[in-house]
Amino acid sequence: MRVVVIGAGVIGLSTALCIHERYQSVLPSLDVRVYADRFTPLTTTDVAAGLCQAYLSDPSNPQEAHWNQQTFDYLLSHIHSPNAASMGLALISGYNLFHETIPMARGGADVIINCTGVWAGALQPDPLLKPGRGQIIKVDAPWMKHFIITHDLAKGIYQTPYIIPGIQTVTLGGIFQLGNWSEANNIQDHNTIWESCCSLEPTLKDAKIVAEFTGLRPVRPQIRLEREQLRFGSSNTEVIHNYGHGGYGLTIHWGCAMEAAKLFGKLLEERKLLRMPPPHL
Ligand SMILES: Cc1cc2nc3c(=O)[nH]c(=O)nc-3n(C[C@H](O)[C@H](O)[C@H](O)COP(=O)(O)OP(=O)(O)OC[C@H]3O[C@@H](n4cnc5c(N)ncnc54)[C@H](O)[C@@H]3O)c2cc1C
Ligand SMILES: *[C@@H]1O[C@H](CO)[C@@H](O)[C@H](O)[C@H]1NC(C)=O
Ligand SMILES: *[C@@H]1O[C@H](CO)[C@@H](O)[C@H](O)[C@H]1NC(C)=O
Repeated sequence: MRVVVIGAGVIGLSTALCIHERYQSVLPSLDVRVYADRFTPLTTTDVAAGLCQAYLSDPSNPQEAHWNQQTFDYLLSHIHSPNAASMGLALISGYNLFHETIPMARGGADVIINCTGVWAGALQPDPLLKPGRGQIIKVDAPWMKHFIITHDLAKGIYQTPYIIPGIQTVTLGGIFQLGNWSEANNIQDHNTIWESCCSLEPTLKDAKIVAEFTGLRPVRPQIRLEREQLRFGSSNTEVIHNYGHGGYGLTIHWGCAMEAAKLFGKLLEERKLLRMPPPHL
């Protein structure tokens, strides 16, 4: 069974890993390969601040809340493991600042796993998928111990300044431009981020700028996580789509990878390829 995963961002890599881990022992012929035109450090995933704060997003699909929870539990279960640092995992506290009061609440493969982020194929464009352009500045500011995320419900999410400490650098942001495909850093956006973050946290004025990146969030009303049969010439190929994770791909990746693996398992069952039920599903 040849499985081709298209996409080497967090979604493609975690989906490939999940399918490999779950089905390798029950399907020895399983051959999972990842194809992509960009690899780390050139993916959208590399631009992400890396914060997993599930309740920031308000998913329109209740399943997404569940996938967020699964991802959070998975990451938390690794927090004390020797691999935590290399996974980029650390617990952090911080502040969400609101002005308002808010209510809390292709051929050659048997299966293609489509984890292409914001890039729709020429084959079948998806009109619901749009780029949510973001730009961030990475600074060296080891004194920043807490995240600070400001919210303006009128303007919308990611449009106001945020300061998110990572393991090595601190990410400054607050840009979200729906429909803009430009991956170039913009000087006006740079100034907006710098001035608003420095007024929020004046000690940042002394911080050294280490890098600056622009990335395109794959924005969609809902994540597309489903099976589809596509005809390539005379043969049918099964596709499992897993894309459209907006500004919360890291926050939700593992739950989605497990769901994609579950869909893959159903397909194996239908084709009577499973020797025994897969573990942990
Ligand atoms: C500024 C910014 C800050 C962010 N901060 C956070 C955060 O703090 N927390 C969080 O959870 N999320 C954050 N995100 C969102 C997160 O980055 C995305 O949701 C996530 O990276 C999407 O992952 P992906 O694997 O779907 O896409 P990508 O990382 O874009 O990967 C897509 C892959 O598909 C490949 N591909 C696409 N089309 C083709 C094709 N036709 N042929 C071959 N290969 C193809 C690409 O080469 C690439 O390898 C942020 C995003 C931005 C822009
Ligand atoms: C993968 O998803 C994109 C949308 O991002 C779509 O346009 C493309 O046709 C899909 N590819 C396959 C092989 O289904
Ligand atoms: C998109 O962003 C780029 C870079 O910031 C900017 O130069 C351009 O004017 C923007 N385009 C639109 C249509 O907003």
